[in-house]
Amino acid sequence: MARIAVISAVDEELSEILRLMPDERKVQAAGRTFWQGHLQGHEVVAVLCGIGKVAGAATAAVLHERFNPQYVLFTGVAGGLAPGVQVGDVVVGTHYLQHDLSAAPLFPRWEVPGAGISRYPADAVLVQVLTEAARDAVTWLPKLVSEQTLRAFGLHRPTVHQGLIVSGDRFITSVAESEALRRDLPDALAVDMESAAVAQVCADYGTPFAAVRTLSDRADDEAHVDFQAFMRDVARHYSARIVRKALNLL
Ligand code: ADE
Repeated sequence: MARIAVISAVDEELSEILRLMPDERKVQAAGRTFWQGHLQGHEVVAVLCGIGKVAGAATAAVLHERFNPQYVLFTGVAGGLAPGVQVGDVVVGTHYLQHDLSAAPLFPRWEVPGAGISRYPADAVLVQVLTEAARDAVTWLPKLVSEQTLRAFGLHRPTVHQGLIVSGDRFITSVAESEALRRDLPDALAVDMESAAVAQVCADYGTPFAAVRTLSDRADDEAHVDFQAFMRDVARHYSARIVRKALNLL
């Protein structure tokens, strides 16, 4: 049995997971609710961090100070950047970078000043476990959502990818912005607003971390429309499946 923290940015990503934790008790700290309970034989503390890097970093710091987790998982959605990464696919981050961080020319672009790192690596065991869990979840998708939803999002053969996730304090909702990110960081698979911040805090505390992100949109001009519909119809099913299976494998 391990003590595992599960973080999500928004309610739809966490609500099903909380439903699976019948014995949870609430602890309030730093304006957030931390749900402590059990899932798949592990002690779990689940928390909604809110959107953005500061929200993610503050939550990760409080988690460490109050709950001493042995592993930290982030589950949520992201915008797709790489050409082969489609809505409904799942990205397990192997590295995390803050795409809007630059103290150049004092430090190389994207490097966290003082840390000497721009790409924080995920924990290898968590990457393996989340990848296996995500592969399982995508096979369940046709049973979890209606045929109409599958068709609306074109979710016929979702796949699981491993690679770089970039984070920044911007919701990317234009082709111009996503092209700029692709040009600067050609190996980035997906963009979100928290993972790299949480990765940095977990590295400071020496805690194994990994994020798993389902693609809700392609970070293009339609991203805001796709994001809202995806959150409503699909996201909750994936997150809970992936986390439950991952905890089973840990
Ligand atoms: N999370 C989900 N979609 C996103 C996008 N397009 N930009 C940033 N974060 C996201």
